[in-house]
Amino acid sequence: MPKRETHGLGYERVDDDPNVSVLLGTMDATGRWDATIRLRAWEREQLGLTAGRRLLDVGCGLGDAALLLAADLGSEGEIVGIDASAEMVAGARARAHLAPCGVRFTVGDALALTESEGSFDVVRSERTLQWLTDPEAAAAEMVRMLKPGGLLSLIDTDWSTFSLDVGDSELSQQVREAMRIERRRPSNIGRRLGELATSLGLELIGHTSATQHWTSWNPDETPAPDGCFSMSSLAENLVDAGQLAADDQERFVSTVHAAAREGRFAMTLTMFAVVAADAARTRP
Ligand SMILES: C[S@@+](CC[C@H](N)C(=O)[O-])C[C@H]1O[C@@H](n2cnc3c(N)ncnc32)[C@H](O)[C@@H]1O
Repeated sequence: MPKRETHGLGYERVDDDPNVSVLLGTMDATGRWDATIRLRAWEREQLGLTAGRRLLDVGCGLGDAALLLAADLGSEGEIVGIDASAEMVAGARARAHLAPCGVRFTVGDALALTESEGSFDVVRSERTLQWLTDPEAAAAEMVRMLKPGGLLSLIDTDWSTFSLDVGDSELSQQVREAMRIERRRPSNIGRRLGELATSLGLELIGHTSATQHWTSWNPDETPAPDGCFSMSSLAENLVDAGQLAADDQERFVSTVHAAAREGRFAMTLTMFAVVAADAARTRP
């Protein structure tokens, strides 16, 4: 696949993607988003981790979020990260030396966790549920891993909040309509995280959201806005959702690119976060 065709950004099967390095690099880019930094800081405060705790990160990617939390676990604590992608796990292992506690990154499936049941103080998962065929089953697996009274922390994107403004209201409307619909994956899981946690018998401790804003982009310098998909990939999405005729894809892309070059480019996306406790924590 030629380089200009990259930035479709599908994380269901990272290792099979011809542009795996783009997918990995995008994790670093999204980790630098203000919204991600804010949500991870909020999560850290909510969890209030102390030395000796065990944390499981499901769909850990390159492990950065888990490694940030590792700082609170002292030398007796432990982080376990699982991810379906061997490439992601290799990347995470290369960063593991940054943690003061024990760290184990391993290949695994969120839908069939093989760690010991009831052995973690915290189970977290970030921007992974949106890629799973059955996010409810994955969340139930996470809860199964919790010690009595343990905490579940979920962060996820809600693509129905995505907006693109290049000074063309019809185009903005097409994008909005296309992103509202979930097709083949739970792309709008972000706003359902609280409901998901309570449906599993957990008590909601906190919830928040953060919106990422892109105010400019030069399509001649980077193939896609920072950490995002390309406009050709977005156009394919619109066609798939019945919002754009296949013949209009090129026109869509060139309209957005031309507007961006002229300084008319604004995009937003909201991510949600919840922390919920196993019922044992709230028992009198
Ligand atoms: C968008 S990335 C997020 C990575 C990381 N949590 C972060 O926020 O930086 C989604 C991750 O989910 C992983 N993933 C997808 N399906 C999975 C599955 N069934 N089990 C475990 N991990 C999975 C992908 O390999 C990828 O690393």
